[in-house]
Amino acid sequence: MTPERPLRERLREAGERLLAVHAADDVDEARLEAELLYGRASGLRREQVIAAGAAPPATDAWPTFEALLTRRLGHEPLAYILGQREFYGLTFQVGPGCLVPRPETETLVEAALTAIREHPRSGRLVRVADAGTGSGAIALSVARHASAAKVFATDIAADALQWAGRNRKQLGLTDRVVLLAGDLLEPLTEPLDIVLANLPYIPTEDFEGLPEVIRISEPRIAVEGGETGLEPFHGLAAQLPEHLVDDAFAVLLEVGAGQAGFVEDIVLAALGRPDARVTTHRDLRGIRRVVEVRVGF
Ligand SMILES: C[S@@+](CC[C@H](N)C(=O)[O-])C[C@H]1O[C@@H](n2cnc3c(N)ncnc32)[C@H](O)[C@@H]1O
Repeated sequence: MTPERPLRERLREAGERLLAVHAADDVDEARLEAELLYGRASGLRREQVIAAGAAPPATDAWPTFEALLTRRLGHEPLAYILGQREFYGLTFQVGPGCLVPRPETETLVEAALTAIREHPRSGRLVRVADAGTGSGAIALSVARHASAAKVFATDIAADALQWAGRNRKQLGLTDRVVLLAGDLLEPLTEPLDIVLANLPYIPTEDFEGLPEVIRISEPRIAVEGGETGLEPFHGLAAQLPEHLVDDAFAVLLEVGAGQAGFVEDIVLAALGRPDARVTTHRDLRGIRRVVEVRVGF
């Protein structure tokens, strides 16, 4: 490879290598990844990378790009390499130890914001929990977009809480988001109006079949939900009655494909409230992704 060849051509080749080796879904995505990695190596924004395509790559940036490309070809998540991921219009710092926030989780945030707006306490302060907060994606997005919300976010993994802490600081939400270490709702003493969670829900058997980029790099505790994938929902449901207020509350849970009916049953059985109303929300792929149970509003 001669150094004079244009950047555009060399990034196309890098895209082809990415496409051949891992789950970059299509040519456009592979090219995008190559451009983003070169942007990280050179300090250029993506549009500047594209504009520089006819010239050879910068000689000082290319070795750094090669090193980043090697990491990506070794199945490290793109978001870990770039050190960040966009979620619900905000930038979250991410890296080893926390799950990369997924687009489908925006469905949960959207539904949560509606529930907060419609909750009888929305004129005052709605007390919201996010169990298993990871990077803080749900808790911090909700706090940023609902000024009526005070959010208590927990995680059992110390590494994840560190990422959530960095993001909370960067987003300037230290006064309205409390971070706590522990099992689901167990560390919380405040009565709760709304409980949110995106718990690990992949059954153990399916975990081994996941793409390497998830299986090797992301924390297993963030992904695997025990033998049936439903164990974390049983754990959370058992804790709900002692933490929720009696009169008006909501529980919104992200679920895996095909799990909505099971999770609905688990939550309703734990609550024992004949006045509960259930709604499910579909993600952009049409999958029933969020189970919402409301009582009293
Ligand atoms: C699927 S990830 C979700 C992360 C983040 N909420 C999001 O949506 O991107 C699940 C998170 O739950 C945490 N977790 C797993 N078991 C837990 C438990 N028993 N108590 C608290 N957090 C738990 C994991 O460490 C991980 O951060």
